[in-house]
Amino acid sequence: MKKITIAIDGFSSCGKSTMAKDLAKEIGYIYIDSGAMYRAVTLYCIKNGLFSGDEINIPELERHIKDIHITFKLDEKTQLPRTYLNGEDVEDAIRTMEVSSKVSPVSAIDFVRSALVSLQQEMGKEKGIVMDGRDIGTTVFPEAELKIYVTASPDIRALRRYDELQAKGQEVKFEEILQNVKERDYIDQNRKVSPLKRAKDALLLDNSLLTIEEQKEWLLKQFEKAT
Ligand code: C5P
Repeated sequence: MKKITIAIDGFSSCGKSTMAKDLAKEIGYIYIDSGAMYRAVTLYCIKNGLFSGDEINIPELERHIKDIHITFKLDEKTQLPRTYLNGEDVEDAIRTMEVSSKVSPVSAIDFVRSALVSLQQEMGKEKGIVMDGRDIGTTVFPEAELKIYVTASPDIRALRRYDELQAKGQEVKFEEILQNVKERDYIDQNRKVSPLKRAKDALLLDNSLLTIEEQKEWLLKQFEKAT
């Protein structure tokens, strides 16, 4: 069977990653979380003192950008990719609230986007890939054979993120998460470079009231139709 490219875009915490991972596993495709790359650049900025408060030093980051190397390695146990920043496993470190609250301004910078988009295109050049993010169907793989645009209400998304972080033992407040979700939505939709928007040919999936199983079934049906 010919391999295709699958682009899954949508708001933060709408379950894109879970669905993309499950689908990739089921159909034997590579899964790439493009958000992890923006998070890794943000972590690099935090670690290297490129932030003062919430303000990012853009000229300094431009000088550093060539020293930021992001790779993925398959976790033998889960068979899922883990994110590495300059050779160090940062899969857990990029999922903190600190990174979540600083990632949107970093991902609005044009030279950060062009560096990461090139890397993503390189990773997908053989097809057989499921990539999730904000601009995968519009900018990274405009020719993708299957594009899905996922939405869910902000409250439901905040609750999902809250449960996820609590399960990991992180001390978090629901209100703070809801505010972060809304702020990220606003920045992601209103930035100049590659704002989050539905590609004309993307299928819309509102998963507010769907179970993971129902969602998976729907996705597999779309995959079958596209191949
Ligand atoms: O998907 P996730 O919430 O982990 O992504 C983190 C952040 O990275 C998003 O809030 C968004 O600002 C940015 N992002 C992006 N383009 C992508 C993927 C993520 O701008 N393709």
